[in-house]
Amino acid sequence: MPTSAPEPLLQVRGLSAGYGKIGVLNGIDLTIGAGEIVALLGPNGAGKTTLLKAVSGLLPRAGSVQFAGRDISTASPRQTVDAGLVHVIEGHRVFTQLTVFDNLLLAGYGLKRGALERQAEEALAFFPEIEAKRADKAGSLSGGQQQMLAVAQGLVRRPRLLMLDEPSAGLSPVLVDRVLAAAAQLRTNGTAVLLVEQLIEKALALADRVYALARGSIVLEAQTGEADLSNRLERAYFGSGD
Ligand SMILES: Nc1ncnc2c1ncn2[C@@H]1O[C@H](COP(=O)(O)OP(=O)(O)O)[C@@H](O)[C@H]1O
Ligand SMILES: [Mg+2]
Repeated sequence: MPTSAPEPLLQVRGLSAGYGKIGVLNGIDLTIGAGEIVALLGPNGAGKTTLLKAVSGLLPRAGSVQFAGRDISTASPRQTVDAGLVHVIEGHRVFTQLTVFDNLLLAGYGLKRGALERQAEEALAFFPEIEAKRADKAGSLSGGQQQMLAVAQGLVRRPRLLMLDEPSAGLSPVLVDRVLAAAAQLRTNGTAVLLVEQLIEKALALADRVYALARGSIVLEAQTGEADLSNRLERAYFGSGD
């Protein structure tokens, strides 16, 4: 695993967001390097989903978001995706009446036909288990396989950064490992991952770096190899600081 942070692919500075008059995030600073896997941890209600939505443009936000040398602070979700930043939303559901492959084609809507089919194949190649079921209706897949398909949908556009919001929610430990293994594989082609995960140990085993979010603020940033990280995270979660 790389120990020094590469040049930032994503640079978030002073990001604030919320819902109408309800403020949730207060001045978030966060960076992700190309090909880096970064875990975003924190208790329920901390603002993790809100942060991902604010970065991808699904929520209005204040502050600065730079991505791959572009200012996407005011970009729409569509413009953000076009820039190479893809967000697989929490609880993402696949289209159960469509085949596995058609779900992938749908995820690449707007791409030229040749590129679309090639990139759908590429995305599928990450998941041999669902590749074998490419012509089956997505509704016939297991829960874990549907999660793999949701991640594969995110890959069809060849993102430079994939943001995954609790991709393992509701899965058995074995399936969690398989979904997270796909995230590890992405590193090999330089794709960065921002992973929101409740399973702290698994997230730390996979990630290069970690941020902890509590009550709408970043309360800890560390390399995952640092000593005493579990205790520091616990303190950060419970509000006594780092
Ligand atoms: N649509 C919404 N409208 C109003 N408040 C919301 C909405 N979604 C989330 N919140 C509030 O924002 C805070 C952060 O939520 P969220 O980002 O979903 O946290 P996490 O993903 O870390 O569990 C919580 O207090 C939650 O109640
Ligand atoms: Mg959430």
